[in-house]
Amino acid sequence: MHMKPHLLLSALLMVWSGAAVETVWLSELDLGKMHSGWGQPRANQAVTGKPMAIGGHQYERGVGTHARSTCWLELAGGADRFQATVGVDDNAGNAKASVSFRVVGDGRRLWDSGLMRLGQPGKPLDLDLKGVQTLVLLVNDGGDGIDFDHANWADARFLVSGAKPQVIDRPVPRDEAVVLTPKPGPGPRINGPSVYGCRPGNPFLYRIPTTGERPIRFTAANLPASLELDSATGIVTGRVDRRGKYLVTLEAANAHGRAARTIEIVCGDTLALTPPMGWNHWYTHYDRITDQLMREAADVMIRSGMADVGYQYVNIDDCWMNAPKHRDPLRVGPLRDAQGNLIPNRHFPDMKALADYIHARGLKAGLYTSPGPLTCAGFAGSFEHEGQDARQFAAWGFDFLKYDWCSYGQIAQKDPEPQLAKFKKPYRLMGDLLERQPRDIVFNLCQYGMGNVWEWGAEVGGHCWRTAGDLGFELDRIFEVALKNAEYRAHSRPGSWNDPDYIQIGFIGNARGMGEPSRCPISPTEQYAFMSLWCLMAAPLFYSGDMGRLDEFTLNVLCNPEVIAIDQDPLGQCARVLAADEETFVMVKDLADGSKAVGLFNSGELAARVTARWAALGLTGSQRVRDLWRHEDLGLFAAEFSATVPRRGGVLVRLQAAQD
Ligand code: GLA
Repeated sequence: MHMKPHLLLSALLMVWSGAAVETVWLSELDLGKMHSGWGQPRANQAVTGKPMAIGGHQYERGVGTHARSTCWLELAGGADRFQATVGVDDNAGNAKASVSFRVVGDGRRLWDSGLMRLGQPGKPLDLDLKGVQTLVLLVNDGGDGIDFDHANWADARFLVSGAKPQVIDRPVPRDEAVVLTPKPGPGPRINGPSVYGCRPGNPFLYRIPTTGERPIRFTAANLPASLELDSATGIVTGRVDRRGKYLVTLEAANAHGRAARTIEIVCGDTLALTPPMGWNHWYTHYDRITDQLMREAADVMIRSGMADVGYQYVNIDDCWMNAPKHRDPLRVGPLRDAQGNLIPNRHFPDMKALADYIHARGLKAGLYTSPGPLTCAGFAGSFEHEGQDARQFAAWGFDFLKYDWCSYGQIAQKDPEPQLAKFKKPYRLMGDLLERQPRDIVFNLCQYGMGNVWEWGAEVGGHCWRTAGDLGFELDRIFEVALKNAEYRAHSRPGSWNDPDYIQIGFIGNARGMGEPSRCPISPTEQYAFMSLWCLMAAPLFYSGDMGRLDEFTLNVLCNPEVIAIDQDPLGQCARVLAADEETFVMVKDLADGSKAVGLFNSGELAARVTARWAALGLTGSQRVRDLWRHEDLGLFAAEFSATVPRRGGVLVRLQAAQD
């Protein structure tokens, strides 16, 4: 290998000065920041806690992890070599266990183990690291999608002559924040879903999401007589009294032109016929939320144009009630009054007035509680007051409830019923109560996926359910979270949505410390991938960043109507995943008009070529390909579409069969 002059010089200096080369074992480093799938990595043991063994050979030292795992190391040019023996741990417990190891230095692939199986002898590696600043040790799942296999970096050590290696958080790639999407033109464009569900006799509220220069004049043909459209604001109110399907043609006109769109109002039992969209305060304001901040969020949702592309719910999360104890005295007080009514804390002087304020803008209001005695942040929950609370929420005028398991765990523990029944019980109770209120209230189950909630969430009255823990804790793993969520795709349909948690871009507060918002730890490229993945999965789209600090780039990622249309497609399908290799994959989603949305993704640390083949997508014949982020037609493609996808990035296109 040709050595750069400065490295040669430092090597010579080292020899002349007799700088000592020290052995630093990977297992001696602080591994707290290493990600190891389903559990923490272990020093000098397999991840099972048993001695580390590969192919019948035991190792005293090393690091045992799950596959997948990722370890970022800051070397700062101080390490000369990395040596290890890698392989599947003999106690992996799964005869089909297969993994692969990869070492990446400063964005270059330094070593690949290839596929390794259970029982195979360890593979040694001995790599020259001179000059390398940042190293990544990766274990992948071997392409089998089993991400709890056990993998060992046995005898892993650095030969160090300078700074000692340190395990670090993933450095956020610093790619440029390029606004890919052209601005909407001055003429009107009606956005939002083509179907909308409501229940008979309940208050109806829908603000027609429309971009274009204001003033816009709205009209509607075939609107049920009991509904009324405000022609200046585009807000439809009233009630639909009779069950049925109503095809309504909406029209928007301004000085630059007019647009029309037909939507179907389905008056029946099912709400959320497309994934709910809105904003939730959690990842920005945590336990600092106030009535004032909620009102400002509603104002920004209108002013920023978010409501014009379909964002609709303005949702309070935890911490609006009183707590038995809290650092902020204004949040401490009696949890309920003498009649058992919930008492909001003093930052929320009038819940009804807050909901009215949100409704006056044509938006909807959401709130949060727990089936347990206390919420996750230690505020009043609904336990043993469920009926009273459901009635109260409806009377205040709330349109959405997030019901977060939290302290209900203690109640469930004492319940003698079988596990699954215990999981369902509090949700069925609240689901039934909400259905009986004279309001359309969307019910969001938050219990992190326990008991395969996707299989029964709809049965207990839910409209969407979190499929995993808090995404705020693993923002460096959006691809893995998405791939896991997409496994439950069979349960995605109108009125029933898998929820991989909120969109956290722009300014957000660190979830671990419930910190003040700062720039999100996800690169611009990843943010495009994030939004593309969520839309392909028909995920509820709730932005949870700081509404007070929305910049042009963040709004561009959040507000692309062609991308949102993929999420809001009335078929309600979650994309299926076609693995390309261990780090790249293709997602394909059938859309109601017969076209398909396709995402090409790269979760790796190096740019990669990704190909979507028509045969694999179940397509024959030429397809017109449109880039949905850029709003560009890319032309006619006969059999496949390929793109070079940047590291940790995605490309989102729509395929339309060419007319012969
Ligand atoms: C849990 C939920 C979060 C948020 C907090 C509030 O962690 O998963 O989404 O609601 O509780 O305390």
